[in-house]
Amino acid sequence: MTNVLVTGGAGYIGSHCCKELFQQGFTPITIDNLIYGHKENVKWGAFYQGDTGNKAHLEACFASRRIDAVMHFAAFAYVGESVQDPMKYYANNVGNTLTLLRFMLEYDVKCLVFSSTCATYGNPQRIPIDEAHPQVPINPYGKTKLMIEEILKDCGQAYGLNSICLRYFNAAGADPEGQTGEKHKPETHLIPLVLDVALGKRRTVEVFGTDYPTPDGTCVRDYIHVTDLARAHILALETLLKGGGSDAFNLGQGQGYSVMEVIQAASQITGAEIPFVKSARRPGDPPVLVASSAKAREQLGWQPEYDSLEAIIATAWNWHQKMG
Ligand SMILES: NC(=O)c1ccc[n+]([C@@H]2O[C@H](COP(=O)([O-])OP(=O)(O)OC[C@H]3O[C@@H](n4cnc5c(N)ncnc54)[C@H](O)[C@@H]3O)[C@@H](O)[C@H]2O)c1
Repeated sequence: MTNVLVTGGAGYIGSHCCKELFQQGFTPITIDNLIYGHKENVKWGAFYQGDTGNKAHLEACFASRRIDAVMHFAAFAYVGESVQDPMKYYANNVGNTLTLLRFMLEYDVKCLVFSSTCATYGNPQRIPIDEAHPQVPINPYGKTKLMIEEILKDCGQAYGLNSICLRYFNAAGADPEGQTGEKHKPETHLIPLVLDVALGKRRTVEVFGTDYPTPDGTCVRDYIHVTDLARAHILALETLLKGGGSDAFNLGQGQGYSVMEVIQAASQITGAEIPFVKSARRPGDPPVLVASSAKAREQLGWQPEYDSLEAIIATAWNWHQKMG
């Protein structure tokens, strides 16, 4: 049995990865402080309610059984909040990750899959964005993720701690069997916000910026299904367990959809009218973010199964209706 410690396993992407780990014969062990996670998301493997910055909590995980690898999702991820309160982000996303890395080294755990982000690239200089694109983050959130990427490079060199950084674009959708899904509080992601309107839980959705240089004037993003992300994590983990070295991969579908296209697709799938209000641009929102994931396809053998926006939204809608 391969035991995989999953930090943030009670959260959105972490819980989908726990399911995938379990289904692929790994043993997930979640540590989550439940600040943003949900205990009911932990359905696959053991659960420790604890903080990655708390040595006693980490000791409880690492000392209780052999840990073979770590998947590190635990972080704060609200871009706007990171601008207003950067210390909160440096403390959790960087400081607490250092504590986790120390434990990994102490317990001789040498494989880590790290949740990075397209926010490490900053304003795109070319589309699609490949891994060689300069990483110039424009907000503290993106900076914290880039800092960890850099720290991990050094840890690979110095201690042989091998890591794969997965730079996600916009994670979306829910477990196709409806066992877990997206439940951020506060919610800032477009698809759940739009579905809340369809359910009557919100009156309108705000469209930030309608004068971008895009076909319909709204921002274009690359939505990747969370189960496809989870599968990429398994491939990355297997690569590391087979002795593969440190690396970084983009994870996106390679196709962009505008905010208006998301609203229209959601309206079609739900059969509901989705009223929206036009608002000003948000600072730091690039017009277009689309990934090249050719490297993950070629080197990890990753093949996303959800290749349409409609298919992604349908799984999210199924989950949203269940949640009520
Ligand atoms: N959702 C996206 O589109 C997206 C895109 C790029 C990168 N990411 C990254 O993926 C990861 C997971 O994102 P998500 O959308 O699932 O967020 P999420 O908030 O649902 O999950 C994060 C989990 O980590 C937990 N957590 C945070 N700090 C902790 C700590 N110090 N100790 C223990 N638990 C802690 C939270 O309680 C939560 O359950 C994050 O690192 C995020 O930066 C997400």
